[in-house]
Amino acid sequence: MKKLLAFALALVMVLSMASFATAEGLNIGVCIYKFDDNFMTLYRTELESYLTGMGHTVTVVDGKNDQAEQTNQINSFIAQGVDVMIVNLVQSTAAATVIDLAAAADIPVVFINREPTADDLAIWEKVCYVGADARQSGTMQGQIVLNTENKGDINGNGKVDYVMIIGDPENVDAQYRTEYSVKALTDAGLEVNELFAQRGDWDQAKGQELAATALAQFGNEIDVIFCNNDAMALGAVQAIRDAGRVVGEDIYLLGVDALAEAVELVNAGEMTGTVLNDHVGQAHTAADVAVKVAAGEIPEKNYTVDYVMVTGK
Ligand code: GAL
Repeated sequence: MKKLLAFALALVMVLSMASFATAEGLNIGVCIYKFDDNFMTLYRTELESYLTGMGHTVTVVDGKNDQAEQTNQINSFIAQGVDVMIVNLVQSTAAATVIDLAAAADIPVVFINREPTADDLAIWEKVCYVGADARQSGTMQGQIVLNTENKGDINGNGKVDYVMIIGDPENVDAQYRTEYSVKALTDAGLEVNELFAQRGDWDQAKGQELAATALAQFGNEIDVIFCNNDAMALGAVQAIRDAGRVVGEDIYLLGVDALAEAVELVNAGEMTGTVLNDHVGQAHTAADVAVKVAAGEIPEKNYTVDYVMVTGK
């Protein structure tokens, strides 16, 4: 009986220690594809402060847009024996390699922002993805155009002539936003005409350069400039001003993310609209899921946070 009691006591102690370890004091490694990205900067800042606020130790590293560098960082988190990793891949195609490394060390991984394929996520039970469904953001960009008085055909030639400034053609967010923004228009029965489509790597300076090139080449033929994100749209705003064009009067401009600067421009009429990419919701979900998987819970494969349309006041 005594022995049983001692055993029960020991069990209670072990269990309470285990739950203490999961409640706080986790060691969490966070890999960001590159620090020099407006949206991911907001995201990582929120992620870090939310996790440290819960009492965890967080190390955030900059992959510098180099997958080899990020894989080294993952190896060093594994060598340090972190409890869980939160990973914004440089290249989604590296997911399988990362999962194999993590599984061998039994360290769970929560992928964020850049979605691995379902096949990759199926490799190991302790991996999952937290993100938003980029199809939704593309569709919303298209809907904002449909809601304009001329349904996007601002030059009145009977079709929507558009410019597409792409984030990165290998990235699912970029692929879906590119496809679904236009699909919303064709699904509504509109005729569309792609004048120009080039990659701007999610970057403001590149967005400006590409918009300037398109405006110089196609002038008043352009009805709509779609940008896969706000950073590039902020660049396009400058190019539109420089070209003497006026958003809402002779051209439309769309972004995604709802960066504070972009929302101000939407309210001022210098952007037609954007779509909120909820970095706070995604950061909190990723953090909460990471804490649970570190405690041994088997996660779902996908956690999705909704986008929200943002148009002028
Ligand atoms: C997207 C975001 C972009 C960029 C990209 C990086 O979700 O909208 O602005 O940050 O992620 O992967």
